[in-house]
Amino acid sequence: MQLEHQNYLLKKYEAHLQQLISDKTKRFMKANWFSDNSINDQSVSKKDIKAIRDRSSIKLKINFNENKMLSEAKKIQHLFVNHRKDPSYGWKSICLHGMSFKQTENFKEYGYEERPVEKFHWTEISTLCPYTTYFFKNLFPYSHYFRVRYMMLEPGGFISPHNDLGGERGFAAINMSLNQPDGCFMIMENFGIVPWQPGEARLLDIGLNHSVVNFSDENRYHIIVHGYADETKKQDYSAVL
Ligand SMILES: [Fe+2]
Repeated sequence: MQLEHQNYLLKKYEAHLQQLISDKTKRFMKANWFSDNSINDQSVSKKDIKAIRDRSSIKLKINFNENKMLSEAKKIQHLFVNHRKDPSYGWKSICLHGMSFKQTENFKEYGYEERPVEKFHWTEISTLCPYTTYFFKNLFPYSHYFRVRYMMLEPGGFISPHNDLGGERGFAAINMSLNQPDGCFMIMENFGIVPWQPGEARLLDIGLNHSVVNFSDENRYHIIVHGYADETKKQDYSAVL
């Protein structure tokens, strides 16, 4: 961890955020607050990535204009809805593609046992975000989408430690960073801080326990993409490596 970040944390940690962050999150942060030195973004191959267990994220060769996407997200930030009921604060979302722009959770949260594929569509929000929508329709290497969401973590916001795959490890979604305010950190258990830079896309092992905190004074924006490139390879991420 960089010293300036450590100092920033210590300063803020003792201030108002001390009241907001759950004890569980504080313990998790203290235990995992180190840089992820295991990440070597240059050595990713197109081999079976499920076998890769020595990293918590893989940087992808996907180029996009994060500033255009960021400005489109900011224009509609008043329409974002609260995301997740589990312990979090200031964690909001909106679907560009999904069952509706407000249905930001996994389909199981809406009573479906199987994903209702026929209900997924480009929402009315997509027309308000022309560059971002064009990018996913024409440039991103996927042919089918489920949820494509802007995600926003407000200043002072946090997402308590959780994993999304029931304890199994695995890469399950693509995250794209639109900005990376100083003082905002994603932390992976046993791997430390993910070295996010604006304009990066990463596959994340969301089977690992992870947590995000935003000690900055700005909203932090990401896009999370669920979908696939090829009907016959729904769990295969080789198209984006
Ligand atoms: Fe997660």
